[in-house]
Amino acid sequence: MIELKNIRKSFDGRTVIDGATATMKAGQCNLIIGASGSGKTVLMKCMVGLFEPDEGEILYGGQDFTAMNNKEKTEIRKEIGMLFQGSALFDSLTVEKNIMFPLNMFTEWSHQKKLERVNEVLARVNLKDTNKKFPAELSGGMKKRVGIARAIVLNPKYLFCDEPNSGLDPQTSLVIDKLIKEITIEYNITTVVNTHDMNSVMEIGDYILYMHKGKKEWEGSNKQIIFSKNQLLNEFIFASEFLRDAKEMRMLEETGKIPNNRNIDEMIGPENLPKG
Ligand SMILES: Nc1ncnc2c1ncn2[C@@H]1O[C@H](COP(=O)(O)OP(=O)(O)OP(=O)(O)O)[C@@H](O)[C@H]1O
Ligand SMILES: [Mg+2]
Repeated sequence: MIELKNIRKSFDGRTVIDGATATMKAGQCNLIIGASGSGKTVLMKCMVGLFEPDEGEILYGGQDFTAMNNKEKTEIRKEIGMLFQGSALFDSLTVEKNIMFPLNMFTEWSHQKKLERVNEVLARVNLKDTNKKFPAELSGGMKKRVGIARAIVLNPKYLFCDEPNSGLDPQTSLVIDKLIKEITIEYNITTVVNTHDMNSVMEIGDYILYMHKGKKEWEGSNKQIIFSKNQLLNEFIFASEFLRDAKEMRMLEETGKIPNNRNIDEMIGPENLPKG
């Protein structure tokens, strides 16, 4: 579990994060959503220790990360896997060497043991036998999967993904989302995903923190979003008229004000359907 308590962060006197509070649980996908520039990446960087917040606490399993000394912070960092925006693979290294990188840094394992672990995570992301390929030879979706394999190679308790779907088509995005969700459940990871992909919100958003101008504007689950009356959230999520209509229909359907398809079928009855 990760808890954020009243995080604030400014750059040159300009407030970027203005009091973010959230609880992100293990075994679920915790999403940070919001418009471009709303502070998602800055908040994530504060969480993993790349930025130091000006105020507030970040608790990992109840321990305040911001108050830790460097040695203690390193221990937490070992439990963190991160998938960077654009995958951030080393272009000059093969897939195998990219994934082995954290093992070389943090373990004293034999080459054989490291190789076995690399093959295990490669199989997990459905990229068996790509060991000797270079990043330039991979598609965008494959690069993301290598990035995920590298992020989970040390068996992290915490997984951070910054815009895992950027640059991917909707179907490949779905494959990546599902993989992140499966891994999260399988290994009981506290996963934090920055996104503005609405498919991801609906597909994997167990917990959603909506940031607006550096402030927490709304929190809830993907199911609660449909019924939320928060105007800023609705304008952000249901940006097009088409989606707003779809949301309205869904709400009316749920409240029984309009019949859904099944009810219509029941009301009409097969005997009353037009013949031919
Ligand atoms: N190192 C920095 N120094 C100064 N300002 C910064 C720095 N990093 C980010 N900012 C500012 O903080 C604000 C929030 O940026 P951030 O990258 O967190 O947005 P975001 O929500 O991740 O946007 P996007 O969806 O485009 O990735 C922006 O106004 C940005 O200019
Ligand atoms: Mg960002």
